[in-house]
Amino acid sequence: MNITKICCIGAGYVGGPTMAIIAQKCPQIEVTVVDLNEERIAAWNDEDVDNIPIYEPGLSEIVKEVRGRNLFFSTNVEKAIDETQIIFISVNTPTKTYGKGKGMAADLKFIELCARQIAKIAKDDKIVVEKSTLPVRTAEAIKSILDNTGNGVQFQILSNPEFLAEGTAVQDLLNPDRILIGGDTTEEGQKAIQALVDVYANWVPTDKILTTNVWSSELSKLTANAFLAQRISSVNAMSELCEKTGADVNEVAKAIGMDSRIGAKFLKASVGFGGSCFQKDILNLVYIAKSYGLHEVADYWEQVIIMNDYQKRRFSNKIVQTLYNTVADKKIAFLGWAFKKDTNDTRESAAIYVADDLINEQAQIAVYDPKVSAKKVLADLDYLETRTTEKNNACVTSFVDPYEACANAHAVAVLTEWDEFVQYNWQKIYHSMQKPAFVFDGRNILDRAKMEEIGFVYQAIGS
Ligand code: NAD
Ligand code: UGA
Repeated sequence: MNITKICCIGAGYVGGPTMAIIAQKCPQIEVTVVDLNEERIAAWNDEDVDNIPIYEPGLSEIVKEVRGRNLFFSTNVEKAIDETQIIFISVNTPTKTYGKGKGMAADLKFIELCARQIAKIAKDDKIVVEKSTLPVRTAEAIKSILDNTGNGVQFQILSNPEFLAEGTAVQDLLNPDRILIGGDTTEEGQKAIQALVDVYANWVPTDKILTTNVWSSELSKLTANAFLAQRISSVNAMSELCEKTGADVNEVAKAIGMDSRIGAKFLKASVGFGGSCFQKDILNLVYIAKSYGLHEVADYWEQVIIMNDYQKRRFSNKIVQTLYNTVADKKIAFLGWAFKKDTNDTRESAAIYVADDLINEQAQIAVYDPKVSAKKVLADLDYLETRTTEKNNACVTSFVDPYEACANAHAVAVLTEWDEFVQYNWQKIYHSMQKPAFVFDGRNILDRAKMEEIGFVYQAIGS
């Protein structure tokens, strides 16, 4: 099958970057990214590529190169469905906030809407690709909707989960560990798989393109995220034990990471993992396990989330306890609000929960993040619905200058591991703060010896 036109429904953190790379690496394919969100599409089309809605190192340069050549952003979903041979679905699949499975199951309403729209519009055979992270066996539901149009159009449904991490999306897409494609074992299914393999083979070595059945592919994505998050909760659990015993979690992580069976990556103790996916995907996995009656399996994975919630609370408790059991009316400066460095994404960021705890204790929070706006910080707190917008507004102030954020503060808390924080003039920050000047390093990025030499009371995670 000669693929010349593809589209992607959903111009978010996955759809945007993924399609930009496909367009760059496959100049023979016209790629259209569509979204219902007009503001988002307008931002993707902004003349100044620095204003595209997603910040990822290297992304704006690629968009500049391919936009208008073979990469297009549009709100015309129907036209895109009609004209293309492969349709990626990359819409959001958040945790359900209502009804059965509330707080656990994935909300598939956006996926179903896409399937219904494809069923309505398509006049010729299409390959529909699940790019969103979905519960195992979702393809069955999509297939049932698509197969009942009565107009004779044939659909092949593939699962092609995305493994990119934010902040390194471009590198991850250019040089993926693997590409996973699941499809039907029928001849038609195999042809569809091959068509998608051929797209990726434009830049990914074929030995890194793995093909499986649909269910293995869907479940592998949830499993990968569960394993990754589990490593963080495991090392965070050890961080508390380190604090009690005089061990240093960085040394422990290094020592175990040198065992090639364990590996060195993803063992950084922290204030807790955030991001839009780890929690959502594990809760979804727990829900699926429970729905099959596998309660021990469900409990095992749920513990990863329980540990992560505990780690965030433990961090805010430590701040309160160390500041003589009260932070009321004290200024606490937050360095970082994003859930990790090199992204403007704040979804499920630990900073939000730590701030919420400290505001409950009547602290004044001063936030500096190089990529997150004051509006976003407030919106994140409002989303928790702990208190009114007015009250949040009165307790949180965002700064564009980190030194101003820290001036007069009783304590600085490092919530995100932005590189620039390490380079700051900490002597200057120390002089501008209330004494004793406390630093709570939720990312273990600062040098304890240097900080203590300056005069800070320095507390890290796990040492
Ligand atoms: P996102 O919220 O950034 O983007 C989703 C977009 O889909 C939104 O812009 C929304 O307006 C649009 N949308 C929703 N319904 C639509 C419809 N019916 N028609 C057109 N547009 C519609 O989400 P994201 O972070 O890109 O995640 C998308 C999926 O990819 C999720 O399932 C997520 O779990 C998965 N995933 C995300 C990441 C990541 O790093 N963010 C990585 C791997 C996988
Ligand atoms: C994660 C996975 O790494 C991706 O493979 C996956 O595609 C994606 O989720 C998804 O499905 O959405 P992402 O959440 O973007 O990617 O970023 P990570 O680098 O995994 O970091 C997640 C969180 O864990 C961050 O808050 C980070 O600071 C934290 N983390 C990470 C640690 O606390 N310690 C570590 O050692 C690593």
